Amino acid sequence: MSNPSLLILAGDGIGPEVMGEVVKIIDWYGEKRDLKFDVSHDLVGGAAYDAHGTPLTDETMARAQDADAVLLGAVGGPKYDVLDFSVKPERGLLRLRKEMDLFSNLRPAQCFDALADFSSLKKDVVAGLDIMIVRELTSGVYFGEPRGIFTEGNERVGINTQRYTESEIARVARSAFELARKRGNKVCSMEKANVMESGILWREVVTEIHAKEYADVELSHMYADAGAMQLCRWPKQFDVIVTDNLFGDLLSDAAAMLTGSLGMLPSASLGAPMANGRPKALYEPVHGSAPDIAGQGKANPIACILSFAMALRYSFDEGEEATRLESAIEKVLADGVRTADLLGPEGGSPVSTSEMGDKIVEALNASL
Ligand code: NAI
Ligand code: MG
Repeated sequence: MSNPSLLILAGDGIGPEVMGEVVKIIDWYGEKRDLKFDVSHDLVGGAAYDAHGTPLTDETMARAQDADAVLLGAVGGPKYDVLDFSVKPERGLLRLRKEMDLFSNLRPAQCFDALADFSSLKKDVVAGLDIMIVRELTSGVYFGEPRGIFTEGNERVGINTQRYTESEIARVARSAFELARKRGNKVCSMEKANVMESGILWREVVTEIHAKEYADVELSHMYADAGAMQLCRWPKQFDVIVTDNLFGDLLSDAAAMLTGSLGMLPSASLGAPMANGRPKALYEPVHGSAPDIAGQGKANPIACILSFAMALRYSFDEGEEATRLESAIEKVLADGVRTADLLGPEGGSPVSTSEMGDKIVEALNASL
């Protein structure tokens, strides 16, 4: 049987720098755990625009559709700000998400104990935190019609439409319940059924899917505004949160910051299962191309490495190996190894991007 395929789209700015460290980790798994991938590299974003005049070629799109998983670095940068909207680097990423139909966006908020002081919340509120926000990514108010700015009488009116079909809600709900079974077996669904019909339908469909297919998972419902309060008050009450595109955008950003630095945050975007049973999948750090530190070896590669850990868990069913990698990162942080973004106001001496990668490989070796 051939090895699973990984398409790497490193992108722009710090994208290639952090991805270089992920490649070290991938190589380690091939050598030491006999977990081999067929890795190929291609261009996305500004890098693709520079080479081909488009942020994503049809050939790259086709390769992404065929890959068992896509790993993406980051796209964009000031050099591309002058480009027409249609060829901006971000369009490459949006096209990937749309054409792969990646409807389920997974954003973990996980607090490494060594970084608990970094949170804006009290240490005991966040230490050991491990929650997952599942955000519907391809529908809702960002896509619904009608939309636009219209003239009504003598003034302008801006319109967006929140629209969810039953099947759109059902598929993201299933994705959340499946995840919960691999974690703490708890799902909290968030909407505003008190003021929105789309929220009423959301609650009904989630409840039906739960009763029919996932009665073993504990389900609760919360209005999204109350959910936001609870996330700040006592985030450890949650395991998996499932919510729509708009609320998920806000709640996942808020939850992410409970744990500290942007340089630590991974994400996964999953679609429907392919013929081999694996979901269509794109893994990427939450951060952007960080032009202010690009090319200086300062970037924290952990967000991108944790994204690969998510690929191990959710695309390749290698949960134990994902945990091994997360534990290696935990150990390196506990040893006090810090990239510049992880140093508090009191300072200290930071390691470089590649030194952080090497330390994680050392910790992986020590795990054997
Ligand atoms: P950003 O995430 O690139 O940077 C925000 C701040 O966080 C910067 O000070 C940066 O140095 C720091 N930072 C980010 N990642 C880091 C890491 N791994 N290690 C250490 N420090 C890190 O967001 P910003 O500045 O708003 O956008 C810069 C460019 O990136 C823009 O062109 C934007 O469009 C693009 N962008 C791309 C995204 C993507 O590819 N998914 C997401 C967000 C922004
Ligand atoms: Mg956002």
